[in-house]
Amino acid sequence: MPTLTWLGHGGWSIKTAEHTILLDPFLTDCPTATESADSIAADFILVSHGHFDHIADVPAIAKRTGATVVAIFEIAQWLEKNHEIQGPIGMNIGGATELPFGNVKMTQALHSSQLPDGSYGGEPAGFVLTLEGKRIYFACDTGLFSDMQVISAGGLDLAVLPIGDLFTMGITDSVAATLMLQPTKVAPAHYGTWPPIEQDAEAWAERIRTETSAVPLVPVIGEAFEV
Ligand code: NI
Ligand code: MN
Repeated sequence: MPTLTWLGHGGWSIKTAEHTILLDPFLTDCPTATESADSIAADFILVSHGHFDHIADVPAIAKRTGATVVAIFEIAQWLEKNHEIQGPIGMNIGGATELPFGNVKMTQALHSSQLPDGSYGGEPAGFVLTLEGKRIYFACDTGLFSDMQVISAGGLDLAVLPIGDLFTMGITDSVAATLMLQPTKVAPAHYGTWPPIEQDAEAWAERIRTETSAVPLVPVIGEAFEV
């Protein structure tokens, strides 16, 4: 059974029996992070898009750990050319790849994706991970979109949705997303990092409980839980 730990903001550590996968680790400049980019473990790093709060720590963590970076083609190429990252896996929306820990499918996201130096970062993305018998959807930075109904096909054990509003969907749209995705469990992310994206996660959880059939999980930063 995979174990997840919220790293704060949009960042996650996903552990299987043999691998540690980071998703959008944002630690050094994240006021709520409890882990350090100098010591966190990683075998793979998934990057959803090019914004600093998702990619800033990726080159250093990838170089120190030798982790394989998985990102959309343009970001994979940028990391290789500008940060000497060895052998990143470039993919694109709708594509999937079988990796040693499981299957990674890249999904669309409604957002933007300029890289920190102004380079074109391709399209923003989300991920569906199938690992150790569980299917987990990370919407990453996105607004609500009706194709979430398609992402739910095959069933989801967990959906991780942004609730911070302003830069991504907020609480009301995350409830609508949960109704489309029909996951067994749903967890919030991308909130509470800075005042503009402050949210009441307990109020969110209450709405999920009363308006959907999913079980809300409100992870504490740094505390692992089983999916
Ligand atoms: Ni973003
Ligand atoms: Mn973001």
